[in-house]
This record gives sequence, C-alpha cells and structure tokens, in this order.
Amino acid sequence: MRYEIPGTMRWNAQAYDSSFGYVSAHGAPLLDLLDPKPGERVLDLGCGTGVLTAEIAARGAHVLGIDASRAMIEAAMAKYPGLEFTVGDAHDFTVAHPYDAVFSNAALHWMSRDPDAVISCVRMALRPGGRFIAEMGGAGNCASLISAMKTAWREYGLPEPELPWYFPTPAEYALRLERGGFTVRLLEYFDRPTPLTECPNGAADWVRMFAGPLLQRVPPELVDPLLRRVNELAAPALRHESGWMADYVRLRFAAQRR
Ligand SMILES: C[S@@+](CC[C@H](N)C(=O)[O-])C[C@H]1O[C@@H](n2cnc3c(N)ncnc32)[C@H](O)[C@@H]1O
Repeated sequence: MRYEIPGTMRWNAQAYDSSFGYVSAHGAPLLDLLDPKPGERVLDLGCGTGVLTAEIAARGAHVLGIDASRAMIEAAMAKYPGLEFTVGDAHDFTVAHPYDAVFSNAALHWMSRDPDAVISCVRMALRPGGRFIAEMGGAGNCASLISAMKTAWREYGLPEPELPWYFPTPAEYALRLERGGFTVRLLEYFDRPTPLTECPNGAADWVRMFAGPLLQRVPPELVDPLLRRVNELAAPALRHESGWMADYVRLRFAAQRR
C-alpha cells in the first residue's frame, strides 16, 4: 500500500476521527437498514477509518473495507487489526467472490468522477439479488456552507472553487440505479442538520477537513482571512446558540441487484 489513487483527496485520518466522528456516528440507521446477518459477505465502500466496517463485523458478517485513501486504510488497519481492509478506487474495482451486500456511508458523493462506473462496479461485486445500501449527500447538501465558500472566494479575487462533490436529486440517482441494473426498494431524501460539536471554528474547520485540496490552491497568506470570511458569511444560517450546525441533506437508499 505505497501508492495514492490519482485524483482522490489526501485525508487526515486522525483529524477525521477526532473532530468529524459524527459522520460515522450518524451511520446507525443505515446499519439497521443493512441488517447484516451472521455469515453474510458485506463490502464497505469508502470505509474511511473503519468504524462502521467494525460494527458490521460485530453483527457477525464477513466484511471487507475498501477506500481510496491510504491514510484512511492505514488508520483502519491499526484500529481493527482483525478485519480486512484494502486500498481501492470505487470507480474501478473487482472482487474474487461476489458479496451479499455493498454498504456505503457518506462516501458516494466523493466518487464524483463517474457515478455510473461506481454503480457498475457495485453491481459486479454483488450476487444477483444482492443489496446496495447507502447514504450520501443529496441535492442541496451543505448549500449554506458552499454558498459562503463561493462568496468568500469571489471576494478575495480567487477563481470559483471547483467543488469535488456529486450531490444528486433522488430522481437522478434512482434513474442511475435502475439503468445500472438495480431495483430501488427504498429511497429517502431528508434534511439532517448536523452539530459540528468538535469544530470550535465552525465552517472554517469543516472547509479545512473536507475541502483541503481547494485551500492548497489559495495563496498561503490568504487562507486564514479567507476562512474567517467563510465563517462570517455562513454564521447567520449555521451558527446557533448551541453551536455550529452543518446543513446536511441526505439521500439514503436500499437497492437490489436484478
Ligand atoms: C466522509 S468519508 C466516510 C468514511 C466512512 N464511510 C464513514 O462513515 O466514516 C468518505 C470516504 O470516501 C473515500 N473515497 C472518496 N473517493 C473514493 C473512491 N473513488 N474510491 C473509494 N473511496 C473513496 C474517502 O477516502 C473517505 O475515506
């Protein structure tokens, strides 16, 4: 595992676990939707540091975690040495033996280069009748955060940030699934305002974690003032008496391979 997958982000696995553990903590309803049975074979796509992979294993399933980030996979292997993890790109992976289910939390919107290629790989990884259970950002996800970023970038004379995410509407993603050989059994689209409990600098911390590559293109002396401006712009919508809240919108689905 001495390589990085081109075009994917370098993650700070330690900061992800310490300040953004809410991402996997919100995965409990998705685990219930997966409902893994003892002995089932489950693939966790975009597994990150493996928190949910371990929960799937704890329910008795045989699970493999795949992630494009070497740092994430190394962190997962260190935390859960008994589990199986590998570095791989969701757009281009194959498995030796088909799985009963593919699970994915908060990761499909990062696989934005070619969503149909991802769906096709998932299909190939499943046995007929196997299920694809996932949650991702949906259309409108983080709209206030993104709007604050775009405005701040513009005010500082920077080119519009090229956002790395794919946030589809329910209809758009359902169509991709249907065309990709799946039957959609359940599809939910909902707001999930999410407290940024471990982010004292609010929106700025969120941008540093999830939009790091965009900041690398900003002259270093501008990064701090730019992020302060993001906070000022985002505060009216996202800063509450109880603290910062990210305006997450989620798409959660259960689909079955035809
Ligand atoms: C927000 S994290 C979610 C991690 C984990 N599922 C969780 O619930 O904590 C998104 C993950 O998707 C992974 N990812 C992004 N693009 C990917 C790709 N093309 N193939 C595989 N994994 C990818 C990232 O490396 C990252 O670990």
